[in-house]
Amino acid sequence: MKEINITTSFTIFDTLNELPTEIQDLMHQAIEVRKKAYAPYSKFKVGAALLLDNGKVILGSNQENAAYPSGLCAERTAIFYAGSTYPEAKILKMAITAASDINQTTAPIPPCGSCRQSIAEYEIKQDTPIEIYFMGEIGEIYKSSSLKNLLPLMFDKKFL
Ligand code: THU
Repeated sequence: MKEINITTSFTIFDTLNELPTEIQDLMHQAIEVRKKAYAPYSKFKVGAALLLDNGKVILGSNQENAAYPSGLCAERTAIFYAGSTYPEAKILKMAITAASDINQTTAPIPPCGSCRQSIAEYEIKQDTPIEIYFMGEIGEIYKSSSLKNLLPLMFDKKFL
């Protein structure tokens, strides 16, 4: 029997002002698209903005459904659109923000497990890391320099 320890790391910023203007702009676009979320059931609105290496910014918000599992998270709405529209482009950076109509989110809101798995697929496909920044409505911003920090022991094509 043996035990392994896997370490992961994040950089924490107190305010958006501490980030490069390019990331501030990306997060502001995520905040704007978050307001367009269709979230009548959870009242939890998420916005995601992706910066591609061709300069395009792709936006997504969560889209819910009366049949709950048929809805889709903001991150996958954005990343599937990017993959469909610009299949040759690399995703450089991703900004995510979440806000609830019920109470103010002050903690950084990380992408859910399914979104992590979906982002991992594109990171492996393009063979370069995707920088991920995530926050609540206010408060700290977490930066992950790669999806790998968010998904230790990830399942990928090498196991198929
Ligand atoms: N949601 C996202 O858009 N992204 C995540 O990573 C976590 C959850 C959405 C799904 C659902 O519409 C609402 O937030 C509550 O779970």
